[in-house]
Amino acid sequence: VTKDRVFFTINGRKCSAGSEFTVDLTLNQYIRQYGEFRGTKYMCKEGGCGVCVVNVRAHAAGTQEYTTFSVNSCLVSIMSCDGWDITTIEGIGNRKIGYNIIQKRLNHFFGSQCGYCSPGFVMSMYSLAQGSDRHLSEAEIENSFGSNLCRCTGYRPILEAFKSFAVHPDANILKKIKDIEDISEQICPKSGKTCGGTCGINEDWCLVNMNNTSASDLPKKICLADGRLWFSVSDIRSIFAVLDD
Ligand code: FES
Ligand code: FES
Repeated sequence: VTKDRVFFTINGRKCSAGSEFTVDLTLNQYIRQYGEFRGTKYMCKEGGCGVCVVNVRAHAAGTQEYTTFSVNSCLVSIMSCDGWDITTIEGIGNRKIGYNIIQKRLNHFFGSQCGYCSPGFVMSMYSLAQGSDRHLSEAEIENSFGSNLCRCTGYRPILEAFKSFAVHPDANILKKIKDIEDISEQICPKSGKTCGGTCGINEDWCLVNMNNTSASDLPKKICLADGRLWFSVSDIRSIFAVLDD
């Protein structure tokens, strides 16, 4: 069924498109030119680089069930977006409302160089997390980024950042996490700030050391005293909240 007019939302804003546009207007062009959300990038325009990825929530075909998934917005005609709730990088977090934990994590792992690929990577990870009702493994996360390209080739910190969302296979991590929880309200004797459990004063407390051994060559002696944190206390809690079930 071809509709004369389609209705959809972008970051909660109601939008529509019809005969004022040609059918070859893509979702990417609409988002950038008419939605004025230019965080969504474009490059190859043929589905090969992933810089244009956005998240979509829509009815699964033939059902009333909602499903969420990522799309390469350069490949989608605006006239096929009827009923979609589209979320771009601005919709999950920004300077005004605060950044999403995925954006923060990429930053903490130094996963952005020129930054052109970052919105696409973040929205792919966001869609993966939204679309999964189970705990993700490191392998699943790593294997989900085959269609996101980084021209600065900084893949390692990007993947380390996102793999930090995986549930650690080591059951002993549970006790260590509890230890972090217990100390996380304590005041750091060096900085006088609330402890984030990451400064490395006590190696046993260091989340980078225990949770992500492959990140062991990253700088891990960052002290709370200089104000630079790998993870905030709330980050730590939200990462591992699932393990408290
Ligand atoms: Fe490259 Fe869309 S612009 S996949
Ligand atoms: Fe430059 Fe990925 S950070 S393209």
